[in-house]
Amino acid sequence: MSWNRKHLLDIESLTAAEIFTVLDTARAFKAVGERAIKKVPALRGKTVVNLFIEPSTRTRISFELAAQRLTADIVNFSADASSFKKGETLKDTARNLEALNADFIIIRHSASGAPHFLSRVVNAHIINAGDGAHEHPTQALLDTFTIREKKGKVAGLNVTILGDILYSRVARSNIWALTKLGANVTLCGPATLVPRTFEQMGCRVTHDVEEAIRDADIINLLRIQHERQRQTMFPGIGEYTTLFGLTKARLARTKPDALIMHPGPINRGVEIDSDIADSGRSLILEQVTNGLAVRMAVLFLVNGGQGPHGVTVG
Ligand code: CP
Repeated sequence: MSWNRKHLLDIESLTAAEIFTVLDTARAFKAVGERAIKKVPALRGKTVVNLFIEPSTRTRISFELAAQRLTADIVNFSADASSFKKGETLKDTARNLEALNADFIIIRHSASGAPHFLSRVVNAHIINAGDGAHEHPTQALLDTFTIREKKGKVAGLNVTILGDILYSRVARSNIWALTKLGANVTLCGPATLVPRTFEQMGCRVTHDVEEAIRDADIINLLRIQHERQRQTMFPGIGEYTTLFGLTKARLARTKPDALIMHPGPINRGVEIDSDIADSGRSLILEQVTNGLAVRMAVLFLVNGGQGPHGVTVG
């Protein structure tokens, strides 16, 4: 067991041993989730607030279910119906949530560093659910969990991340996690969205999609993050699909056991052919399922839980 952190703010600062502790604990929680009684009392009496200032389907709902499975009280904060609209700051909002006995604040925010900021101004446990283009740590943890579950290991695998890397927090967190665990990471996409500076993170960068997917064990597709792009980064969606979309013809040129991942939401017919998304090669919905166990593990560990051997059934 290697975990002694009050918060989960990023993957960059984690060790490989800490990542494996989350993955092993998630595996124990996944087993609990397959039993008739799926709840454990680990967070009984605790209050979890989902402070999502950006839209979310998968992350918000799986954190909500994770908190419920751990017997915590969970409150969903709606930015549009909140006093943000009256000018209240993030700091004051969080301090007011804490005054209402929030023990955990799960934050998604468009500003990189917002979770780190909150960890300095409140006493609650802070979990980063996505901050700008910086990091999305629980996505990377559920992705590596899924890879290990399917392939039996992460070290030595060839993982290609294909798409809008520059604006992707999922890409950054995955790069940190995969390289720490010993995978060979290749990044591919338009040169404007995959600059060579990413090589400094220990990745291979190529703008040739055929080369990027040829030897891949895992192909993780990313959508174009229009909401974070301040200028046009390529001529058009049609051209993107032609040059970088995962089509059936391209899939036929990959290794037969290469598996397809995507953090969602997917744009069918853009970065991924619709039939591929629904095929047996796709792990997209298994990633979502695994997100619940991974988020239970994260809540459990930041609360002081003792790794996989500390997971008890209610
Ligand atoms: N993958 C992911 O973060 O999805 P949501 O935006 O729906 O949470």
